[in-house]
Amino acid sequence: MELSGKTVLLGLTGGIACYKAAEFARAMIREGAVVHVAMTENSQQFITPLTMQALTGNPVFTSSWDSRQPNNMPHIDLPRKVDVIAVAPCTANFIAKLANGICDDLLSTLCQARPVTTPLLVAPAMNVEMWEKPVTQRNICQLQQDGIGIMGPASGFQACGEVGKGRMLEPAELVEEVIAALQPKTMAGRHFLITAGPTFEPIDPVRGITNHSSGKMGYAIARAAWLAGAEVTLVSGPTALPTPYGVKRIDVMSARDMLEAVTGNLEGIDVFISVAAVADWRVKHVSTQKIKKVAGQAVPDLVFVENPDILATVAKMPDAPYCVGFAAESENLREYAEAKRRKKGVPLLVGNIGHETFGKDDNTLILFDDNGALELPHDSKQNLARRLIDQLASRL
Ligand code: C5P
Repeated sequence: MELSGKTVLLGLTGGIACYKAAEFARAMIREGAVVHVAMTENSQQFITPLTMQALTGNPVFTSSWDSRQPNNMPHIDLPRKVDVIAVAPCTANFIAKLANGICDDLLSTLCQARPVTTPLLVAPAMNVEMWEKPVTQRNICQLQQDGIGIMGPASGFQACGEVGKGRMLEPAELVEEVIAALQPKTMAGRHFLITAGPTFEPIDPVRGITNHSSGKMGYAIARAAWLAGAEVTLVSGPTALPTPYGVKRIDVMSARDMLEAVTGNLEGIDVFISVAAVADWRVKHVSTQKIKKVAGQAVPDLVFVENPDILATVAKMPDAPYCVGFAAESENLREYAEAKRRKKGVPLLVGNIGHETFGKDDNTLILFDDNGALELPHDSKQNLARRLIDQLASRL
């Protein structure tokens, strides 16, 4: 529940994406948020206040002259009782109003009357031509300069039948934006490169050698870094996980593919976190055809060669980024992890017990650096990832 204790004011303006705002409200409530809703007159052509009231359990505000407010000042009271304001969908017209300080209805007025410390996010939703018009782009630049967060828009098939940029983000993506807006940007301006998941070392076109790494820890760290404001590239071996919102993902299979993707994307990277369970060995001669099982014949005699050590390679580079390694051990974690940290030449190595982490949603981490060992006690990988990012913020 990542929005527990948070109150959100959801503003709806008149666009067909209003139908997604209902799910957006529910998704925030599922994360623990209290949601209040303010709707423009045009938005009520698409969805009723009754729907939003039933979904949020709170009265919906549609007018500046609402006598339910004892002082009759909803434009002052509403923004003062929330942690964040999110306008979704946000039309071209509403963007123009925000960019120019026009306050001609409750929602535009309460956005203007919000305290400076209350973040305002907007999710543009409009036809591609409307989005691309210079006037809309000028207004968007103005909103950015004014510190208003722009969520999306996405590209794709539009309700009007045209294809292009202007689709409102999906509800789950909007929730990520809201969670991000409510946390300190300790990694703003930083660029992270993270490896995650297993590698797959081929034997022939249909077989290979891999391991049980699910990628969950690396993906959680990529998400936590993005939430903290970093730009994140994730180089991932084969996993079944969705790409964390906001993160650029590059898919690879073998250790050598991973090395190539890492070295090809190191420019401008401040922090490299090597979470992937990279295979130590690969098969020397990969068969171009499927190796046939012939009755009575000997089983294949596979010869292995050592894979490149990606982390050690990066750590040795001149101008290397701050490097963080992971170690999954089945015994003597402290001793092996500290030895590994020195061998790989990295300032920080994160240890965990191999069989306790692979595939699981939770874990225990121990951080080894020059100051000794620090345990991050048993928790979900999502929470541990955030704690690891906090630790990095104090070390960088
Ligand atoms: O040597 P070991 O595999 O135990 O080291 C684990 C750490 O090194 C992890 O951070 C892992 O991502 C990284 N590693 C690597 N390339 C390898 C083997 C491990 O980057 N070939």
